[in-house]
Amino acid sequence: MIVAIDGPAGSGKGTIASILSKRLNLVNIDTGATYRCVALKALRNNLKVENKEEIIKLSNNIDVKFDLNNNVYLDGEDVTKEIRSKEVTQIVSPISSIVEVRKNMVDLQRRLGNSNNVVMEGRDITTVVFPNADYKFYLDATLEERAKRRYKEYQEKNIDMTYDEIYENIKSRDYNDSHKEIGSLMRTDDQVYIDSTNMKIDEVANKFIEIINNN
Ligand code: DC
Repeated sequence: MIVAIDGPAGSGKGTIASILSKRLNLVNIDTGATYRCVALKALRNNLKVENKEEIIKLSNNIDVKFDLNNNVYLDGEDVTKEIRSKEVTQIVSPISSIVEVRKNMVDLQRRLGNSNNVVMEGRDITTVVFPNADYKFYLDATLEERAKRRYKEYQEKNIDMTYDEIYENIKSRDYNDSHKEIGSLMRTDDQVYIDSTNMKIDEVANKFIEIINNN
């Protein structure tokens, strides 16, 4: 079974995917983390976003794995926290726009998705990675609400970004993420659209589960 969730940064996809994975016994695959691993590896190799060829090479044989507690491993090393850093967050969207990097990550995500019952969240899961998924959702919220949620999350995790930095970062990622050559974030008629702006997280999770159980 594949549950696919797309939506913009901060819409709550990660939280919902984590709740669904526990309640429905699914492996949770955070596809944004695969792009964040490429970005982290690029930073570690002192590459800039402009060094496309080198970044593509690096994405050709990158090893990204997830465990059942949502930890992320890059070439065997636990990078769960490091991939959320400000530095990675600032360059990940342009890196994820590189067509060849996307091809490599989509291959990787399909391999991960085909070997388990999964909930997979990202920007192009319902449209490119698994267009035939059993359940397809688009989770949304206003920009202000998403920036507020990310700010709260980052404070709890001691990640050093101000509200204004987060707001601007999300705004520019929204633009980038919906203007890609391939794999753009988009709404389609066959997704279930859920606007979580005025909903509590439990209400959102219950709505997902109700839809999955009734279809
Ligand atoms: O969900 P996230 O914020 O961790 O994602 C990081 C970046 O990766 C985001 O700016 C867009 C990109 N991304 C993508 O292009 N396609 C996906 N399926 C998931 C994420």
